[in-house]
Amino acid sequence: MRQHKLALCKEHYLEWIPEQTARFIKKYEMFAHDEKILVAVSGGKDSLSLWHILIKLGYQADGLYLGLGIDEGINYSHESQRLTEEFAASHNLKLHIVDIEKEYGQPIPVIAERSHRGHGKPCAVCGLAKRHEMNRIARDLGYDVLATGHNLDDEAAVLFGNTLNWSSEYLLRQGPVLPGTAGLARKVKPLCRFYEREMTAYAIMSGIEYIYEECPFADGSQSIFYKESLNQLETARPGAKLIFYLNFLEAKKSGKLFLEKNVELANLHPCPRCGQPTSTPDQCSFCRMIEKTQSETG
Ligand code: AMP
Ligand code: FES
Ligand code: ZN
Repeated sequence: MRQHKLALCKEHYLEWIPEQTARFIKKYEMFAHDEKILVAVSGGKDSLSLWHILIKLGYQADGLYLGLGIDEGINYSHESQRLTEEFAASHNLKLHIVDIEKEYGQPIPVIAERSHRGHGKPCAVCGLAKRHEMNRIARDLGYDVLATGHNLDDEAAVLFGNTLNWSSEYLLRQGPVLPGTAGLARKVKPLCRFYEREMTAYAIMSGIEYIYEECPFADGSQSIFYKESLNQLETARPGAKLIFYLNFLEAKKSGKLFLEKNVELANLHPCPRCGQPTSTPDQCSFCRMIEKTQSETG
């Protein structure tokens, strides 16, 4: 790990990653041992590793898998669900499975097509639906915390995009912890300081079977482009990604970044249909989208 000037053998690496995770959980005050955690698991290396680490650290963590109905490529959804179920069964863990098509009558690619969002690509609709469903289920099932497997590469790419566009509301909300509000569980990203490479190494060394394929729609996406750009930067300047992200968190914490702090957060109101806080007038974006697509069917 060039950025830390550190090299470890397998045995110590498998201790180091959970130790570091425990340090981040404490530093950012993510959750305590008596809280109930819902881990969003996609069947990929990051979220399965996250679940593995939290259990190793003695936390009470159940899983949530969202069936998106993406049957392109190797039948992406089917395969990722199978691997998630196998992981849960082999470690004796509780897994909730929620299928978007069963809940809303249509799989993600169809919702995307009918809602005419995202210029022919379902990724934006998928992201919106995943966030909405994770929040809804965490709230309905009474979890204190919702944990996702976002790693440093994911976070740095989002930060890069938000910075290029100076999206101040998004920048304000980006970080390892998003505090809970009435009707929304706290959201945490315990792996946000690990490079993607580090999580791949952890998953492989731990013998975790995960889905290697990316979502078939990810090809050519904006976030992949940002990740590649940041990788070039990282090659020339090892540690650049980590510094980019950590210095952002520092600047935000010190209050130097934005003066009109919390303006956007103060303008949230509950969506009349699902009750989740939203900043859009009337219904939240997800409910508006579903209503529109459902009215197109009938
Ligand atoms: P992505 O949005 O695909 O980059 O994934 C980011 C995080 O969202 C993952 O690490 C998971 O924690 C969560 N996630 C993604 N897809 C799913 C899914 N189908 N079911 C549950 N959680 C998911
Ligand atoms: Fe949702 Fe690719 S479109 S994971
Ligand atoms: Zn809503």
